[in-house]
Amino acid sequence: MVEIRTERLLLRAARVDDVTALHRIFTHRRAMAYWSTLPHRDLAETRDWLQSMIDIPAGEGEDFIVEHAGRVIGKAGLYRFPETGFIFDPDVWGRGFAAEALRAVLDRAFAVHRLESVIADVDPRNRASLTLLERLGFRETGRKARTWLIGDTWCDSVYLRLDAAELPLAPARIAPTHPA
Ligand SMILES: CC(C)(COP(=O)(O)OP(=O)(O)OC[C@H]1O[C@@H](n2cnc3c(N)ncnc32)[C@H](O)[C@@H]1OP(=O)(O)O)[C@@H](O)C(=O)NCCC(=O)NCCS
Repeated sequence: MVEIRTERLLLRAARVDDVTALHRIFTHRRAMAYWSTLPHRDLAETRDWLQSMIDIPAGEGEDFIVEHAGRVIGKAGLYRFPETGFIFDPDVWGRGFAAEALRAVLDRAFAVHRLESVIADVDPRNRASLTLLERLGFRETGRKARTWLIGDTWCDSVYLRLDAAELPLAPARIAPTHPA
């Protein structure tokens, strides 16, 4: 799997030894507040989740571990084409890392994988994700109630989409800055 270097980040394939760093994120109450599962209960749960990330077949998705300064700070990618998913360590929120990682993911989605659009499914209470995706050019396409049963609580979805044709055509976005 390709590695991508952005200005500050390294996006690379997941490895089994990422489990400790990911477990820290997947057990964090704030990071998991609007995730599609409850916080992980034990290391085995994170190990299984990580293995499913490692096992994504090449033609079906592409999900990256994100490192900053040699430390794993999250993951971002297309866990199943054309749907994006991302989660970052709350310690590094608000520094533009998620936006930087997702820009690289979107560049590849359109320029390399030739997807026509990328979609997202976000809890309407998840202001951080909605703002992030809107800043990247995503537009809301619909809403649905009671889409996810998380523990014993039903949660809702906002659906968003970014079409290749709607990409902001800034030079940095068009140029193939990241090798395939
Ligand atoms: C969503 C998430 C990845 C954002 O990470 P981040 O590193 O803080 O994002 P960035 O610093 O790149 O911020 C991107 C934009 O979102 C905005 N933003 C970030 N947190 C926000 C918040 N709590 N409320 C409103 N806007 C917010 C930032 O201001 C920034 O906009 P700007 O460029 O105009 O300043 C992070 O909050 C996270 O990991 N959440 C938990 C996992 C999750 O919910 N994943 C999505 C499931 S669909």
